[in-house]
Amino acid sequence: MYLGKSTDGIRDCRGGFPLELERAIPYYWHTMKRRSRIVSVVGARPQFVKLACLGPVLAKRFHHAIIHTGQHYDSNMSGMFFRQLRLPKAKINLKISGGSHGVMTGRMLSAIEKTLVSEKPDLVLVYGDTNTTLAGALSAAKLSIPVGHIEAGMRSFVTDMPEEINRRLTDHLSTLLFCPTAASLKNARAEGLSKGLVHSGDLMYELLHNSMPAIRRNRSILKKYGIEAGRFLLLTAHRAANVDDREQLLKLLDLIEVLPMPTLFPIHPRTKKRLRQFRLWTRLSRIDGLILCDPLGYLDTLTAAHFARAVLTDSGGLQKEAIFLGTAVLTLRDETEWVETLGRGNHLVGLDSRKVGRLLARDIKANPLP
Ligand code: UD1
Repeated sequence: MYLGKSTDGIRDCRGGFPLELERAIPYYWHTMKRRSRIVSVVGARPQFVKLACLGPVLAKRFHHAIIHTGQHYDSNMSGMFFRQLRLPKAKINLKISGGSHGVMTGRMLSAIEKTLVSEKPDLVLVYGDTNTTLAGALSAAKLSIPVGHIEAGMRSFVTDMPEEINRRLTDHLSTLLFCPTAASLKNARAEGLSKGLVHSGDLMYELLHNSMPAIRRNRSILKKYGIEAGRFLLLTAHRAANVDDREQLLKLLDLIEVLPMPTLFPIHPRTKKRLRQFRLWTRLSRIDGLILCDPLGYLDTLTAAHFARAVLTDSGGLQKEAIFLGTAVLTLRDETEWVETLGRGNHLVGLDSRKVGRLLARDIKANPLP
């Protein structure tokens, strides 16, 4: 696993992020009283992970409250993360999920606004690029409350991707932009964003680093699914572009059918729904060597990624985590926001089963980031 310092790639920010946060808000820091109020708006799985790292620091220095939009609500998509990552209970859960992007975002906007009016925070923090992120940022900006965006400046340059819309708009609504990488900083600048930019390093790296001893100890996931270190693949897929269209899902199934070794596939609720809707569930469940399971918690996901021969995924976070862990990644997309990982063990394969077959026949490895 990579533990070195980097000046150009994804920075090692062990212990650094809170400091960056403190440095980044000198204006607010001085005008804000010591126990000023910060509200974090979260709602989806990757946001709980980011909050786990920052939450304890925020709680020490500020009056910190969590608004959970309810975007993710199954126990293994939300409650399990709060328990395992020891997150404090959200002050309120708005229970808003499902529906079209517009409906979901609109309902969140109105409910978050009400909560912010009663909480009166001095700063609202939003995380990543989900509908929750955009709704949180827009609600705060409309109330003239400063917004801090964690993971600002990330771009796929695919303009119709829901996450790209969310991240672009959120960046332009934010007062403080916490850019994890040099590339994200450059992207923000290229869009004319020049104020409040902070090259903060990557919170997810920080959490992964802290979790490393537990990952190395945790073999229960291997035992539970009867898989051996180095002799299985980990697969995840949930992007709308890959699973919301029947043709794309068929390509995904073709790809799974060529995988040459046991494959653990924790299935996202969106993917499961679509497979059922398109009557493809039976075909999937009959694939030899495929081990289907419910979504995994943080530690089990990273343990599986650590011990896997390779990871196949369309998740942004897992792509990068696998490289941190020294595991090669086949990214089921044609582009990535984490450009630092390209050439270091991250291969963009889209849903091309031939490319996947060719790569897995080779001894692919991940190189540490610089
Ligand atoms: C969302 C984010 C995506 C992020 C992903 C992490 C947006 C636009 N997308 O995608 O960026 O990578 O979270 O997982 O915000 N569902 C359940 N149970 C749950 C959660 C969802 O059954 O606990 C169902 C929903 O009802 C919905 C579908 O899964 O039908 C998709 O959920 P949604 O929150 O819209 O988007 P994700 O695909 O999870």
